[in-house]
Amino acid sequence: MQIHQYDAVIVGAGGAGLMAALYASRGVKTAVISKLYPTRSHTGTAQGGIGAALGNLDEDSPLYHAFDTVKGGDYLADQDAALLLAEHAIEAVIELEHLGLPFDRTPEGRISQRRFGGHTSGFGEKLVRRACHAADRTGHMILQTLYQQCIKNDVTFFDEYHVVDLIRSGDGVAGVVAVNIDSGELHIFHSKAVLFATGGWGRVWEVTSNAHTLTGDGNAITFRRGIPMQDMEFFQFHPTGIYRMGILLTEGIRGEGGVLINDRGERFMERYAPHVKDLASRDVIARAIYLEVQAGRGIKGRRYVHLDVTPETVNRYLAEAGEDRRITAEYLENKLPEILELCRTYLGVDPIKEPMPIQPTAHYGMGGIPTDLDARVIMDAQRTPVPGLYAAGECGCVSVHGANRLGTNSLTDLIVFGRLAGMHLVDYCRDAEMPPLPDNPSAEVEAEIERLRTASGKLKAYEIRSELQHMMMDHVGVFRTAEGIQQAIDGVRRLKHAYRTELGIDDRGRRFNTDMLEAWELGCLLDIAEVTAVSALARHESRGAHSREDFPQRDDVNWLVHTLAYPTEDGGIRLDHSKKVDLSLAEADPRFKPKERVY
Ligand code: FUM
Repeated sequence: MQIHQYDAVIVGAGGAGLMAALYASRGVKTAVISKLYPTRSHTGTAQGGIGAALGNLDEDSPLYHAFDTVKGGDYLADQDAALLLAEHAIEAVIELEHLGLPFDRTPEGRISQRRFGGHTSGFGEKLVRRACHAADRTGHMILQTLYQQCIKNDVTFFDEYHVVDLIRSGDGVAGVVAVNIDSGELHIFHSKAVLFATGGWGRVWEVTSNAHTLTGDGNAITFRRGIPMQDMEFFQFHPTGIYRMGILLTEGIRGEGGVLINDRGERFMERYAPHVKDLASRDVIARAIYLEVQAGRGIKGRRYVHLDVTPETVNRYLAEAGEDRRITAEYLENKLPEILELCRTYLGVDPIKEPMPIQPTAHYGMGGIPTDLDARVIMDAQRTPVPGLYAAGECGCVSVHGANRLGTNSLTDLIVFGRLAGMHLVDYCRDAEMPPLPDNPSAEVEAEIERLRTASGKLKAYEIRSELQHMMMDHVGVFRTAEGIQQAIDGVRRLKHAYRTELGIDDRGRRFNTDMLEAWELGCLLDIAEVTAVSALARHESRGAHSREDFPQRDDVNWLVHTLAYPTEDGGIRLDHSKKVDLSLAEADPRFKPKERVY
């Protein structure tokens, strides 16, 4: 068994992990462990932009950005976190620029910005251009820029090492256990501090924008070691995924003027959000698409609608709105090259000439491992930190996105909270002693991995996974009822039993045994699906991405609280709803008080 020793170990090499690593490595000995080659991390697929109130094209301010974040989150966002995000965003984006990120430019040479859903100036008065972008490859550019900087800064990378357990030491942590995917050997990473930045868990659902690797590893690992998951009932469906494939078609398309059209040729968002139309927040638009389809107005009666960015259509609506701007085919080739190629390749559709078939796609978890503003993981409603344990990016829940995240705020979150985590890691590791390792720290996970590698049942992991994804899509998707959620809970528990008793693995080898590792990831998906469904059943209201047909109203009297889900000794889940939403901005400024969202 190889044992490595570092001050700080960062699990995951997406935007949050790399930003934290860059900052941590300036002060302490830091390693990044990633199950992928770092630049294949999912941050690379983020398309449309990173939100920051630079005000390069329209008047803007961090307070407007914080307001939109709070309103977009349907008032479940912690307001101290929203303000911090908006204030730090400006400096963080400028830092990225200085690190070499090739942002698109205005004619004057400033960072170019575009519109995105729910981003306004004047506290909701009018749409604002706030998304700083590098064509529609913003996440890709962030990843490349940060990876190069980390290499320059001598961060040590363990690529294609799959972290499978957290080592606890007393109330704190002492490192992680990882499988070297190439050799199949287990390695111990002994450290003073661990940061999880493992991204999302969209693979719980059937149609998703998330890569195959997004199986919520960090959340499942920490949960199994006693750490709660927060607000897991809130999972966002991005309105525009490619029909049936789920691949993301950026909101930037609508930011550039694209519109959603039903089978009757109607721009239906005019009915659901008369003010901002196709740029309402994502939960509102995803529901509108479902309702159009339910009413038989999907294209040709099917389960999709059209997203139309053809210059002819866009220019007609721009003219109708009295805007001077017009777009051309050449403009779209420059601003949206990635999505044009995706549609031409995967759909045989050229978006410059014809509309794209889209449906909502499972995209982003607003919940996750609970943290404070320094990305320190917290245990309870009193915000008790777990010494040495951190989480940032999608796997964490600070909670800045509340019940529904605004587009572009994920990249902002990665950079802002990744940076704060990296700074805090340095302070913590400088003061802390190296914790002792428990005896045989890998024994438990080693036994589980061996069980999986030699499993000889008749059910394949993909069969269990498909059934799980189908069930979650049907019952814990955009619209939910108690009956449907309960069916999902029963179904997940049945699948968890089958996973333990009927699973079969074909590959008995140790090297690059992706058959076994995918089965291990399936265990994470099952745990996360159960927490999601149990949390969703208990929340008797509709808020943001959690839309209960049996509780259609938002209930601010009883439900301005976060959900904390804990594992129990007997393998169950205990919920705690005593953690109140931070309303500090509302206390000083009535505009931040929870009110009905009108778009
Ligand atoms: O639509 C998009 O480009 C996605 C961005 C996001 O999820 O923030």
